Amino acid sequence: PPLTALIPAAGRGERFGSEQNKVLSELLGRPILGWTLEAFAQCDEIGRIVLVGSESDTDVLWALGDQYGGGKLQAVVLGGSTRQESVRRGLDAVGTEFVLIHDAARCCITPALLTEAAGLTRIHQAMTLVRPVTDTLMRRSGELVDRSALVAVETPQGFQTELLRRAHLAARSEGFVATDDASLLRRIGRTVHLMESTLPNPKLTYPQDAFVAAALLRERGV
Ligand code: C5P
Repeated sequence: PPLTALIPAAGRGERFGSEQNKVLSELLGRPILGWTLEAFAQCDEIGRIVLVGSESDTDVLWALGDQYGGGKLQAVVLGGSTRQESVRRGLDAVGTEFVLIHDAARCCITPALLTEAAGLTRIHQAMTLVRPVTDTLMRRSGELVDRSALVAVETPQGFQTELLRRAHLAARSEGFVATDDASLLRRIGRTVHLMESTLPNPKLTYPQDAFVAAALLRERGV
């Protein structure tokens, strides 16, 4: 059976510098979120989509889901003050055994990567997309860090839904806050399978990131 995609899109995008939610900003003729939704619409492993957004964006999120979500949009859930809280709330609307969490702002994700992530989720119960680190890394103190031991953590991240619910409950009761969901699994002692990819999958954070994303989407022939 297909998975549910849970897409947190309730961030304010302060670093992006736009007036509105950054994923509603235009990129190549449609809102950024439209590109993200289309990748899920085109992935057969995904049966439903749950969007998490702020109250003021609810109507536009439904409209975008209808336009780009391939008929898969199941719910628009009210987000919280952190990404973690937004995901936790979104999970209440997920009714499938497995769920794929993906940042709305990673709009260059492809249906092929989503298909691979979905398969690994079924096999391992918990997975995350990661990228080898190519920069030299150091602490702000100046101390060098061995990059060969490190990866950058991206989304999608896939989980058995009940397992992720448990991890969120535990994190909440301990006051543990992370910027992703795989960290919450680790926190309760579960291993998370690493799906390594070097395909570009930027998270649009700063205004200049939109240029990179536009080039990637064009390359794909959109
Ligand atoms: O802020 P950051 O770029 O890490 O956010 C990652 C994703 O989480 C974005 O798609 C953003 O919309 C979402 N988010 C959310 N609720 C928040 C903060 C961020 O859904 N309170």
